[in-house]
Amino acid sequence: MARTALVTGGTRGIGAAISKALKADGYDVAATYAGNDEKAAAFTEETGIKTFKWNAADYDESKAGIAKVEEALGPIDVVVANAGITSDAPFHKMTPDQWKEVIDTNLTGVFNTVHPVWPGMRERGFGRVIVISSINGQKGQFAQANYAATKAGDLGFVKSLAQEGASKGITANAVCPGYIATEMVMAVPEKVREAIISQIPAGRLGEPEEIARCVTFLASDDSSFINGSTISANGGQYFA
Ligand code: CAA
Repeated sequence: MARTALVTGGTRGIGAAISKALKADGYDVAATYAGNDEKAAAFTEETGIKTFKWNAADYDESKAGIAKVEEALGPIDVVVANAGITSDAPFHKMTPDQWKEVIDTNLTGVFNTVHPVWPGMRERGFGRVIVISSINGQKGQFAQANYAATKAGDLGFVKSLAQEGASKGITANAVCPGYIATEMVMAVPEKVREAIISQIPAGRLGEPEEIARCVTFLASDDSSFINGSTISANGGQYFA
């Protein structure tokens, strides 16, 4: 029987590539989105992947949404906590709201996504938790004290769950993408982006599919002894 996978923020950017790659590998995939109904409908039309709408920053919405996914597709075996936002500003200009919205979505959102599926994974003796962190959680980034803090937090999160889940057949790992050609990176001012690309030994941005392949590997049985790890996929920009 096909395994079920949930991908938050799974209709756009890296998340969309992950949803498609998991589907291609035979999973029943549910992709979540927070806002744009039209884009989500187009995504389902294009891929046949079911979409569900909720705000990852809200625990009750996440729990209710996950219950709907499980009702429609069955128990979730693979959870990919991918939903994330940026709200960049040098720290002296960063407002408490900018701090809070990024922490709520990126870090509390990971808790909200994984916590409701965790008891079922423990009961069934199988689970794959994959959190999409970032190179900027490993190295820090000018104007991203909020974002980098959440992405570094992801790494402590999976290392802790790895210890708790190992005896129950659950692994928890993180993927740290470098700069990938998505809307998020394209929103960085062009001059800044060019400077970033010049720091990537591969000489280019990554492709979302290059991250998706890390995720499908971590989701598979082939990765069963990999737990609490971080896969860095950044074109040689940073060695963690
Ligand atoms: N390192 C050092 N100094 C930097 C810098 C950097 N990377 N970037 C900007 N600065 C400096 C500027 O030179 C300028 O200095 P001066 O005041 O001496 O001229 C100052 O910092 C910027 O001041 P501004 O008032 O112009 O800054 P701003 O309030 O307009 O903010 C910004 C601009 C938000 C920093 C903008 O430049 C920006 O968005 N930078 C990109 C940040 C970034 O890399 N974000 C990553 C997004 S992609 C992502 O997050 C995905 C992922 O996981 C990889």
